[in-house]
Amino acid sequence: MRFTRNMVRNSRDYTTWTWLIALGFAWVPATSLAAEPLALQGIMKDMGRNMQVVVDGLSREDYAMVEKAALAIAVHPQPPADEKMRFMGFVGSNAPRFKAFDGETHDNAMALAKASKSGNGEAAIAAFQKIQSSCLACHQAFRKPFVEHFYGKAEVR
Ligand code: HEC
Repeated sequence: MRFTRNMVRNSRDYTTWTWLIALGFAWVPATSLAAEPLALQGIMKDMGRNMQVVVDGLSREDYAMVEKAALAIAVHPQPPADEKMRFMGFVGSNAPRFKAFDGETHDNAMALAKASKSGNGEAAIAAFQKIQSSCLACHQAFRKPFVEHFYGKAEVR
């Protein structure tokens, strides 16, 4: 087969496209990794860990352990001010709802701390269930939209 000028030109086009496609694929994962985790995510991880400590404490009837973890949930650290601004900008008119879920979680965690302090196992378990419901309520309303908005859909777990 003879090499024609046309074939050379076609093969050059082909090479260019291969490069562009390869670059395109290299670029996609790089951008989807770009979103930094929110400070909120670290705070939430700690909330989850403290809930596990509560469960452990309840089954050991170690109420000092439960009280300490409950207080840590009630007075969890706040995200930095600029992050809070981003949240409020995003939730818009739903801000009171978001804050109410946080307030409910706080109140239920305080009730758990109080029940634990008096060594009342049944009351502590009832309060624990209420906390879980308030965590769940906020997650059902806000978690997915937050993850989609602040990390992009590729990060949804
Ligand atoms: C006011 C709303 C709100 C409340 C109340 C709330 N969360 Fe969250 N939580 C979120 C949002 C929003 C995310 C997603 C954060 C992110 O991925 O950056 C989240 C994510 C999480 C995660 C996943 C973190 C990870 O590793 O990606 C855990 C665990 C968690 N929350 C635990 C809790 C527990 C336990 C409670 C109750 C004691 C609670 N949350 C209460 C809003 C809330």
